[in-house]
Amino acid sequence: MAKQGEIDYVARIGEIGAAHAQGKPFSDPDCGRMLADLGGVFMALPPAPARLLDLGCGSGWTSVFFARRGYDVTGQDIAPDMIALAEANRAAAGVDNLAFTVCDYESLGFADTFDAAVFYDALHHAEDPHAALASVYKALKPGGVLVTIEPGVGHAEAEHSKAAVDAFGVTERDMPPRDIVRMARAIGFRGARVYPTPKMLAMIQYEMPMLARLPDWLSDLVRWGGMGWLMLVAKRWRGGMVVLRK
Ligand SMILES: C[S@@+](CC[C@H](N)C(=O)[O-])C[C@H]1O[C@@H](n2cnc3c(N)ncnc32)[C@H](O)[C@@H]1O
Repeated sequence: MAKQGEIDYVARIGEIGAAHAQGKPFSDPDCGRMLADLGGVFMALPPAPARLLDLGCGSGWTSVFFARRGYDVTGQDIAPDMIALAEANRAAAGVDNLAFTVCDYESLGFADTFDAAVFYDALHHAEDPHAALASVYKALKPGGVLVTIEPGVGHAEAEHSKAAVDAFGVTERDMPPRDIVRMARAIGFRGARVYPTPKMLAMIQYEMPMLARLPDWLSDLVRWGGMGWLMLVAKRWRGGMVVLRK
């Protein structure tokens, strides 16, 4: 049933919601954070040109960025209406090294095809995250890289997540790096690395207005503390980017 909620989502969010999805990241107040995270994904990926699978790509904004960098991109999503928005974004960007497909990332049907795959804010919608990771493992070539940036502990209980589940019947899970790494290792992925998300690093640096009242040296000290907390503790359960290799 939850998959039907994902499929029907665009039809149910209305014109303003669809325009927001289509205009990402620029339509979103978190544009800066989203671009910071995407920058981190670019830095973790193997260099272009390479075949890249963008999982749960929604309106395809990340796919367009990857294609413009020179990757040969396949964007996939379970929702046909999302893929229609993505096709419009592809046409507007005028890129031809980008194709979209409607399918379920829990049963992709690709084998040894891609050099890289990305879950950007999408794995936490899986009904069966283990099946999704196993399906991506199969789709990657040996040595292929999977990068994930997903919301961590606390996401499922957040008010906006509970509201989305109630209103649209979608899935909203906590998807912390420690869970992704545990499932991925059991499937066969190796070389798991967890990094703080660029967004969280940037928030500590640029989005703590109360620090502006402190002397420079003290605000720097607090930021260093925040970075330490993120690196040593928080990245595994909140705010982590995971890089895995087949
Ligand atoms: C929060 S949206 C993120 C979309 C996009 N990555 C972005 O950042 O804008 C999650 C996306 O995952 C897709 N999705 C959910 N379950 C899926 C599944 N089983 N297979 C493929 N896509 C799925 C949804 O349709 C939706 O577009």
